Parts: sequence; structure tokens; C-alpha cells
Amino acid sequence: MKQICVVGVGYVGLVTAACFADLGNRVMALDVNEKRIENLKKGIMPIYEPGLEEIVERNVRGHRLSFTTSYSDALKETEFAFIAVATPSGVNGEADMQYVAVAAQTIAETMTAPLIIINKSTVPVGTGDWMADIVKKYQPEPIPFAVVSCPEFLREGTAISDFMQPYRTILGSFNHEAAEKVAQLHLSLRAPIVITDLRTAEMIKYASNAFLATKISFINEIADICEALGADVKEVAIGMGYDKRIGPAMLDAGLGWGGSCFPKDVKALAYMAEENGLDPKILNTVTITNYERRRVIVKQIEEMLGGLQGRTVGLLGLAFKPNTDDMREAPSIDIAQGLIAAGAKVRAYDPVAMENAHHLLPAIETTADPYTLARGCDALIVLTEWNEFKNIDLEQVREAMKTPVILDGRNIYDPVEMRALGFTYRGVGRGFYRK
Ligand code: NAD
Ligand code: UGA
Repeated sequence: MKQICVVGVGYVGLVTAACFADLGNRVMALDVNEKRIENLKKGIMPIYEPGLEEIVERNVRGHRLSFTTSYSDALKETEFAFIAVATPSGVNGEADMQYVAVAAQTIAETMTAPLIIINKSTVPVGTGDWMADIVKKYQPEPIPFAVVSCPEFLREGTAISDFMQPYRTILGSFNHEAAEKVAQLHLSLRAPIVITDLRTAEMIKYASNAFLATKISFINEIADICEALGADVKEVAIGMGYDKRIGPAMLDAGLGWGGSCFPKDVKALAYMAEENGLDPKILNTVTITNYERRRVIVKQIEEMLGGLQGRTVGLLGLAFKPNTDDMREAPSIDIAQGLIAAGAKVRAYDPVAMENAHHLLPAIETTADPYTLARGCDALIVLTEWNEFKNIDLEQVREAMKTPVILDGRNIYDPVEMRALGFTYRGVGRGFYRK
């Protein structure tokens, strides 16, 4: 049984801690947020992630998983310390490294035995070397340590299965023995393990996220062209996806990407390029066109309603994607604010993100279910493709609405069926739009 410590108990840290415990390791998960740790000790999850509560509960019961706010408790008898703290966007798009710096410094000040420090946070290329300097600087006396980069590729909403069945494990270090030891921890996941140097591992993470974001921005541009020319982007994506060189994933056209990662990571990669005298035209355009979609959707609903002043618009979904309560960089925030600025009254329903919405969008009214949401609305906009919305009784929705207008930002409904049901319906890139 290996003893592991995970620093930062957010989306990545809690999943990492719970999954490593489930693989038979003894894991101590540490966070500076006392309330979060207090709640976890009582079995209260800090985030909504399907399957996470059961796995945490099972491993706490099995004495493989515990929680603490004390670095010295967490590092006692530990050979591996995973860092999974946030790296949000700084003012100029750079990654804000304050949390990683504090974590590295505190580890250095607290460690009493040799340690492998493994970075799971998404960090700028060169961070591994920088962290090693911090650890050396703050160790009261020299104790051997190694830094390994092990970027995380999980997605929110499917985090447990993504962690347990990864496409690959990437490890970067100048200390091959340390990288091999970390590889051993991942062997039972049965995925290819790539061992490389620190900077290359750090770059693989940014390049992967930037590529996926680019793929989405690309299909969104194709969607706009489809709409102008009368083609259906959903079928175009299916047709393209059969080509193994393209693949079907990340080709859902819609409102573009949001969340805590693509926006900040594409910006951070562009920042790194610019800092080094390069002009990352593709990355910058991918971001600009992504945010443009949020403005366009407000214009489209305005056009469908012939103006937004005094109109009531209902938002189906607030989370940046389904199966999460995360609203960081969610398109819903900009869209709700755009609608309000244009004079509309905005109401919303989301199966799990409403608590977060109360803080981020205090001006909107939230409702208990989609049917109450529809009551008296001039239009509905689908912002998140929750399964619950795919299966709602659309006739009941139509009856409740003041005017049956739906702008489907995630293409969850069939345009022909929607029109047959009596809706004025517009999807994204689904053939010529006709009023
Ligand atoms: P998060 O904000 O959900 O969690 C970070 C946690 O770290 C918080 O609980 C915070 O209290 C804690 N923390 C901050 N400073 C600390 C310190 N000095 N010591 C101990 N704990 C500390 O963040 P997240 O979404 O889990 O992301 C973490 C990192 O993983 C980021 O770099 C992100 O880019 C990357 N990542 C995230 C995802 C994702 O889906 N969220 C996926 C892959 C990679
Ligand atoms: C993304 C990556 O998929 C993960 O591999 C990575 O680990 C993570 O970022 C990270 O670094 O944090 P995540 O943000 O959880 O994961 O969600 P995705 O499912 O990738 O969706 C991101 C955004 O793109 C969402 O807003 C989603 O609505 C949008 N999207 C996704 C589309 O618009 N179309 C698609 O086809 C797929």
C-alpha cells in the first residue's frame, strides 16, 4: 500500500485522491480551505461530480482516504505529493501561479523525508524547473526530492471514468527513477505511459487542450457556413467523424467552449508564445471566435422576437456543460448579461448549477423545473444539453409559453419535429433558418 498525499481538493484533487485510494493506495487529501475539509470529513462533497460521493464514501470507510488541513500530517510517511491547486487566468491571460507557489513552498518547509512532488495542475512550460528552485530555496535543510509533471486530462462530468480509463498517462521529469515510480502508481490503469522531460510534458497538456478548443471553434465556423448554405452541421459532423484522422469527438457545434480550462489554457498558451516573440494567430482567433458566439446568440434571439425590451427569456441550463454544477466561464453568464443589457427579463433553470448561479447571476430569477420556467416566457434558449431537457414534454412547454420560440444553442432538438410541434425554432447550423 503506497502512501500518497494530494494537495488541493477541488475537481482534480478530490477525484485524484478518491481514485488513487480506490486503486488500493492510502491517500491523505489536503486543502487550505477549512470548511471544505470539515465538510468532506462529514461526507459533504464540495462539488457535483457523478459517482464521486460513492467512491469517497467507500474509501473513507475502508480507511484508505482521509482529509486534513495540515501539511505535516499529509506529508508524514508520504513518498508522493500530488499538487492539484488552481491555476486561473491572470490579468493578461497568463496562468496565475500563486497557489502553486504557496503549495511548493509549504511542501519544502514541511517535508522531513525524500519526496516525489508531482504536478497535476496545468502549469506554464518551465514550471517544473521553477518549482524545483522554490523547493530548494525553502527547505530548512537539503532533503532529496524530484519534480515530476503528470498533467491531468479528465473532464468534469465524467471525471471518474476519465481518471480510471485514461487515453494515456504523461510523465515528465529529469529524474527517470522518480518518473518510473510515478508510472508504477498508474500501471493498473492500463493506459499507454509516455515518459518525457518536464517541459515537454507540460506542453503536451496545453497543446491537447488548445487543439480540442480549436476543433470546437472550427466546427462552429462550419456551422455558420452550413446555416448560410442550407446544410446541416450535425450530419456534417457525423460524416466527418467517420474519418479516423478526424474522429467524432469535440464536433458538437453550439455556443462554444467555456469552463475552467479551455478559456484559460488557450489564453495562457498564447501568452507563452507572445512572451517568446511569437504571434500565435490560430490560438488568438480560436478564442475571439469562441466569445463572439455568445454575442451572436443574443442578437439571434433579439431578431427572433423582434426586440428584447420588456421580453421574458428563459434559459434552459446554466452550467458550462452537462453533469456538472461548474459555471466558471459558462456561456450562460455572458448571454444572461447580454439579454439583461438589451432590456429582457431573464429566468433560468438548471438541474444542479442554480446555487452557483445565485452568486454569479444575482439578477436572474431561477425556477424549480423547466415547465415553471416556460410559464409566460416569450422565448427559451437551450444553453446546456442536459439529458433532462432532451426528454421534456415539449407540448406542455409550448402551452406554458407566451410565444413558442426556442433558440437551441446546443442542437438537442430536431428542427423538423420542433416546427411540427408549432415552435418557431432555430438551432445552430441546421440548414437555412426560416422564421
Ligand atoms: P479547484 O479550484 O476546483 O480546486 C483547487 C483547490 O486547491 C481548492 O480547493 C483550493 O482551496 C485548494 N488550494 C489552493 N491553494 C492551496 C494550497 N496552497 N494548499 C492546499 N490547497 C490549496 O481547481 P481544479 O478545477 O481542480 O483545477 C486544478 C488544476 O487542475 C488547474 O491547474 C486546472 O487547470 C487543472 N485541471 C482541471 C481540470 C478540471 O476539469 N477542473 C481538468 C484537468 C486539469
Ligand atoms: C476539458 C478537456 O476535455 C479535458 O481533457 C481537460 O482535462 C480539461 O478540459 C481541463 O484541462 O480542465 P472540460 O472543460 O471538463 O474538459 O469539458 P469538455 O467536455 O472538454 O468541454 C469543454 C467545453 O467545450 C464545454 O463548454 C462544452 O460545452 C464545449 N464543447 C465540447 C463543445 O462546444 N462541443 C463539443 O463537441 C465538445
